[in-house]
Amino acid sequence: MISSGLLDVSSLSKRFPGVQALQEANFEVNAGEIHALIGANGAGKSTLIKILAGVEDANSGTIKIDGKSVEIQDANHSRQLGLAFIHQELALVSRMTVAENLALGVLPKKFGIVSRRKLHAQALDALSDFLPDLNPNTFVGDLPVATQWLVSLARVSMQQAKVIFLDEPTAALGSHEVEILFRVVREVTAKGAAVVFVSHRLQEVLDLCDRVTTLRAGKTIGTYNIADVDYQKLVNLVAGDEVVSSPLSEVQDSPGLPILEVDNLSSGPLEGVTFDLREGEVLGVGGLVGSGRTELLETIYGERSVESGTIKLEGQVVNFAQPSDAVDRGIAMLPENRRDQALFSERSIRVNTVMSHLASFARGFLRIPNVNAENSKTNEQIERLMIRTTGPRQLVRELSGGNQQKVVVGRWLCGDVKVFLVDEPTKGVDIAGKSEILVELRRLAAAGSAVLVVSSELGEIADVADRVLVLTEGKVVTILDGPVTENEILQACYKEEAA
Ligand SMILES: Nc1ncnc2c1ncn2[C@@H]1O[C@H](COP(=O)(O)OP(=O)(O)OP(=O)(O)O)[C@@H](O)[C@H]1O
Ligand SMILES: [Mg+2]
Repeated sequence: MISSGLLDVSSLSKRFPGVQALQEANFEVNAGEIHALIGANGAGKSTLIKILAGVEDANSGTIKIDGKSVEIQDANHSRQLGLAFIHQELALVSRMTVAENLALGVLPKKFGIVSRRKLHAQALDALSDFLPDLNPNTFVGDLPVATQWLVSLARVSMQQAKVIFLDEPTAALGSHEVEILFRVVREVTAKGAAVVFVSHRLQEVLDLCDRVTTLRAGKTIGTYNIADVDYQKLVNLVAGDEVVSSPLSEVQDSPGLPILEVDNLSSGPLEGVTFDLREGEVLGVGGLVGSGRTELLETIYGERSVESGTIKLEGQVVNFAQPSDAVDRGIAMLPENRRDQALFSERSIRVNTVMSHLASFARGFLRIPNVNAENSKTNEQIERLMIRTTGPRQLVRELSGGNQQKVVVGRWLCGDVKVFLVDEPTKGVDIAGKSEILVELRRLAAAGSAVLVVSSELGEIADVADRVLVLTEGKVVTILDGPVTENEILQACYKEEAA
């Protein structure tokens, strides 16, 4: 059979110990198209992409580029073949500057010698499109994740690749960055390149892509024109027969007394923030990237110091010097950047799940760990959050990106906590897992805890929150009483910006 595809992957298989990550998967990409690759956590999307990137070896299968069979040797070879990648785990080097990062792999050479000046000029040019104010001499490690991501985008767009793979680009981005991303993707495809787009935000797939291919448990379920599918169809393709439940079924009638009172709080970008959080409620925090949402959680948690104003917990003024003090008082935090801040990837799922509650699993005077209890607690979380794994002993680094995210959520669900501070809880998590996490947040609230949740997916906040606090540039614009729609939150975010 002759294929007109620019990239043609057929019968690709890959086995890891205990799991068939890809099983005779097929995937075909045409020039100039935006092609979505979707599927549940652990379906095999990143594995497929890593094989094309020359990072993993396939066990069998064929790959054709422009109709010609290729054996991809390594990352360099993949690049020479015209493939470019932004992987799920960002690959920027934080100790290097933006300009140096942009030059990695695409170093401009003059008679084999790297030209510094040309490098700088190229960087400025690539950035001018979407980060005109960024100084190329900034160290990447000093930039917010969303900006780092845009730097990666500048880097791949400099490569003039035939196919650009974006593995979950939008998980780290706010609505403004997503707009920039969409613009760049449309520009490069208009020039004839193809873009492969992995996302768990199915509405984005409908908004951006021309075609969509679904993987399930390593197999290709099908490829469809976007014109022929709708949101519900995509949900069914991803979730199969898993149930996608609605968090609102768990709503509590009337929240209780304020458990946390924040009064005129200033710290870093935050200016005079005032609100209260009540027992039994989920309070959503809406706002654009850079509005101070994460800083708000970090200040309450003792990770940043209070510059002025007060925080009261159960009526008592608190000022935590460090997060462990907050933990001692029954406050838990799910950080956005879980890979760096919360996961021990060389340890098992069991250790990662029970780590902050080790004492409660230890028996007797000598505190001997009770492995059986730990295992059953871990299995409970694996089941509840549908973590795709060979079992509690599997190392976290062997899990797919979304399943790693779920491990941290699971850890924190089994704690005994009064106030939950939750930053982007469903980041990287598939559609069934997302709804399960939102349901769990509602259950925590129904059991009397208070939940403060930040999410860039405003629809998610609308689904889960009793009230929504909207932050813009560090200030509270308004607190919306529920039920709130996604659009109302978005309008409140932008209203003050325009004013
Ligand atoms: N290095 C590894 N060792 C063992 N198993 C692995 C390894 N890498 C991936 N796997 C397994 O292969 C399967 C597919 O993982 P993959 O990362 O491709 O999923 P994904 O579709 O990208 O999921 P997500 O949406 O969560 O990112 C998973 O079961 C995962 O645990
Ligand atoms: Mg992945």
